[in-house]
Formats: sequence, structure tokens, C-alpha cells
Amino acid sequence: MTSEIKATRMAIFKTKINRNSEGYQRNYKLMQDKISELDAKYKEALFQGEPKYLERTKKAGRLLARERIELVLDADSPFMELLPLAGWGTDGFGAGGTIVAGIGFVSGRLTMVNSNVGTIKGGAIDYATLQKGLRIGEIALENELPAINMVESAGANLPDQAKIFNYGGANFREIIRRSKAGIPTISIVFGNSTAGGAYIPGMSDYVIMVKNEAKVFLAGPPLVKMATNEVTDEESLGGAKMHSTISGVSDYLAEDELDGIRLAREIMANLKSPHAPDRQEVNEPEYDKEEILGIVSADVRIPFDQRELIARIVDGSEFSEFKPLYGSTLITGYANINGYRIGILANNGVLFSEAANKGAQFIQLCNQNDTPLLFLQNITGFMVGRKYEEEGIIKNGAKLINAVSNSAVPAITIITGASYGAGNYAMCGRAYKPRFLFSYPNSRIAVMGPDQLAGVMQIIGRQAAEKSGIAYDEEQGKQMAGFMVKEAEKQSNAWYASGQLWDDGVIDPRETRNYLKLCLDVIHQVPVKGTEGYGVFRM
Ligand code: COA
Repeated sequence: MTSEIKATRMAIFKTKINRNSEGYQRNYKLMQDKISELDAKYKEALFQGEPKYLERTKKAGRLLARERIELVLDADSPFMELLPLAGWGTDGFGAGGTIVAGIGFVSGRLTMVNSNVGTIKGGAIDYATLQKGLRIGEIALENELPAINMVESAGANLPDQAKIFNYGGANFREIIRRSKAGIPTISIVFGNSTAGGAYIPGMSDYVIMVKNEAKVFLAGPPLVKMATNEVTDEESLGGAKMHSTISGVSDYLAEDELDGIRLAREIMANLKSPHAPDRQEVNEPEYDKEEILGIVSADVRIPFDQRELIARIVDGSEFSEFKPLYGSTLITGYANINGYRIGILANNGVLFSEAANKGAQFIQLCNQNDTPLLFLQNITGFMVGRKYEEEGIIKNGAKLINAVSNSAVPAITIITGASYGAGNYAMCGRAYKPRFLFSYPNSRIAVMGPDQLAGVMQIIGRQAAEKSGIAYDEEQGKQMAGFMVKEAEKQSNAWYASGQLWDDGVIDPRETRNYLKLCLDVIHQVPVKGTEGYGVFRM
């Protein structure tokens, strides 16, 4: 990318943290424990199959899914793996499912790379893997990223077929929709690609098949025999040579796996160049990113000053705060990350009407000046109570949600702590379609905190009993509340959330700047343009 570099400076944030304070030390220790948990979970995602399948693959001189990714990427390229914990804690194939996916540079171009893990269940697609594939396709479409699919898949996970059959078709539809939008997909077929799997190369813009390895057919020899009584073998039915010389399903016949990867890199080098955005000069933050571990509150019930986090992720720790004296529970302002201007909204407490209005105004400004948004969520919700209802917290909160809903500039959301209630929506949660959403390992996401949820249920139970004239069973109520707290705790932690694909990954807070740098490179593949209109704001 050739970008014009400009130099302007903003105010440098002066930190107030004390590294020896009890709070800092406690957060640091607890966050380190959480990061160890994250490492353990990520190890689960690195699983590429039982030893017998790995040995069989090695013996045949073939590559594993992650090795193929490593080889297709440029030697100095980062790889931002996406959704590595998808499916964790579910009854599917485990963390990450049977695809490894993420963004890196191929022949100098930012690319979505997607590799089937053929050594787990033949690369069959379980429910989480299907959903992961759809999310990966969505990211590629929104950011106009060309995709490389490294195919080796037994198609649908047959015992799970009822759950995945209907949505499965969307994967093929999306390849074609991206093609129409001028965003190509390259498939390299390394192994079996049966039935639905055959449509992945079938829909792709460029197809490479590896000699003696790729086997692509709608039905394998046993099903053909059953259906038509024809007796045939895999190679003549769907081998790479047949598809490259007779059917034309394949455009390139690769001699071996490395040749297939080389061909994909060659094709990438010939694609049209992406948009080149303007960038400012880059200064690294003034403060050590290690300190983020002591700043971010490991216990989401204890607030922390998000300015301290901002100062460790933005260029030169420079932050130009907007309306700093108004609506203080929401911080808004401009900064640069890797030279790209960004508008930041960060929670510093419960959302009051003033904070919501300020946020709505700031989002409109960022749309007016075509600036992407960064939401740093740590939100327990909107303020409740009679006074606040009278002030119109509903309509003011709605203004913020309105602004987020119709904002057209790309947004990135990071859950740095709590993500509760409508605060999740107003701060661009998953349903509001940020381009990327990452969580910290301490984060919590739910309609409300577990204690509040159990407490509310107890109050409702007591009221219902009173209404029907029956005595409320206090003991049973207590037991029920205890159970609900446990369930809510389990279903609101970062691992569960990531397993359900509510985020694109749980990240080490120290890596925030690196993630944002790459995400902004990705976002700027497409010119950033603000919205030209909003829905009616309730006044
Ligand atoms: N769904 C669920 N599991 C599948 C599967 C599928 N579609 N295809 C393969 N598997 C599982 C096998 O049960 C086996 O599981 P295990 O490790 O628990 O024993 C594992 O994947 C490996 O299968 P195996 O047949 O031993 O591997 P292979 O390398 O010899 O053959 C295939 C791979 C893909 C050629 C072969 O498994 C196959 O033909 N599968 C069915 C493909 C199909 O018809 N799909 C239609 C989907 S719409």
C-alpha cells in the first residue's frame, strides 16, 4: 500500500497509575491467571487430530492444516487467527471446529485464509464449524478480502446433518455473492471434497487441484453404485487430473501440495490492488502495554479508568477527548492507531442520559468525517430508577442505539470487562455488527449480572406466590437462586461466549494494539464512508 503520511500531534495522556498499589497488583495477578487459562484453551484449538491420522498424513508426505497456512502466507506476515474457540464447550468437535481461519498477507495482499482440518473426522463440518465459516465469509465480504480456501473435507458431519443442512447452503451462496462484488475466492483442493464440499471449489473463482490427492465428486463410488449401479473408482470419478483435463472444474493441476500453494500465491499476485488510505505518522504509545494487566479490573464489578487503557493502545498515547466535562461515564474522543484516525467510545461507569446523548453526537460526528469507531465496552447497563426514567433514560439510550444502528463507518468492539444489558447494544455488541469483536479473558456478557438475575427471579417468585395466596417457599427459592447464579456465571464467561461465537476471539489484553493495527489495515481495504442519514431521534 502506498499511503500519504501526515504529521499532527494531539495531547499526550498523563498516567495516574501506581504500579505498587494493591488494586494494580491484584488485577495484574488475576489477569495473569486468566491469560494462563486463555493459553490452555488455545492449546485445545491447536489440536489437529488423533496421532493415527497425523502419522498417516506425515507418512504420505502431506501437510497438516496449520502447516498449509504457514506456507501460503508471506514469510514475514502476521496471522490474526479468528474464532479459535468457536464450539468450545459444545457437543461438537471441540475448540475451533474443523477449520483454522484468519487474516494474513499473501503476495503482499491482506487475505482471508481458511484451512480444513482433514485429520479431524475427515474434515467433516460440525455446527460450530459451519457458523464459523459463515462469520469468516461475512468478514471477507465486508472488508473486501480475497479468500484462499484450503480444502480437505468430508462435507457435513452426518450425525449432525439435521442441524446444519439448511444453513449449510449459505456458505456456497456467500462465495458467489463475494465473486459478484469483485472479491475472489481461490480454492486449493488437497484431499477429499465430497458432496457439499465439492461446491466449495465448484463456486470458487480460481481452483487448483493437487495431483493424486484431490478427489472431488457429488457422490463417491459407493453411492454411485447404489444410485446407478455404475462401478467406478475415486480417481476417475473425481481426481485432480480428470477435473483439470476433462470436466474443467479445476483451473490448475498442481504437481504436489507445495506447488498448489505456489500457484495460489501466483494468482494472488495478479489480483487488482486494494484501496490505499491516508495515514498519519506512527508513534508508539508512551506507556508499557504490560501495565494493561494491572489497569484493567479483573473483577468486572470494580470500575477502572479506560483512559489508562486508551493511553497504552493508541499512537503516542495521544488522545483528543471530546466533551470531557460532560456525561463523564462515557469517554469519547479521537486518536490514531498505526496512523489511522479512529473515534473512541469507552465506558467509564453506568450510562446516564447525558452520556448516551454525548455518545450519539460523537457517532454522528465520526460519520460526518468518515472515521471508523472503536468501542471499549465495560458496561453494566443504563441507569435505572424513577429519577432517571423521568429524565427519559429510555429515549436517550435509544438515541445512542439509533446512532449505532445507522452508523455506516466500520466499528471494532472490544469487551474489556462487563457487557450487560442494553449497554451491550448501545456499545455496538454483536447484534450491531461491528466489523470485529474481541473480548478480554476476564469479560462477562449477559442480560445482567448473575446475582441480580437470581435476585430478580426471587422477587418475581415471591410476588407470584403472594398473588395466588400461597406461602413462598424461602428454602426452595434460595436453592433455585444458587443454581441460577451458577448457571449464569457459567454462561456469561469469556470461554462460553467465544464457544458460542459471540466474539471473534478472546485476546491477551497486551496484544490489543496489535489486533487493532491489523484490523484497521483490513477495514481500510474499503474506503470509509459515513452514513447519509439516520432514523428519527426521539427528543
Ligand atoms: N461425518 C462425520 N464423520 C465423518 C464423515 C462425515 N461426513 N466422514 C468421515 N468421518 C469420520 C469417520 O467416521 C472417522 O471418524 P473416527 O476418527 O472417529 O474414526 C474419521 O472421520 C476419518 O474417516 P475415514 O473414513 O477413516 O478417513 P479416510 O481418510 O479413509 O476417508 C473420506 C475420508 C472423507 C473419504 C471418507 O471418510 C468419506 O467418504 N466420508 C463420507 C463423505 C460423504 O459422503 N460426505 C457427505 C456429506 S454431505
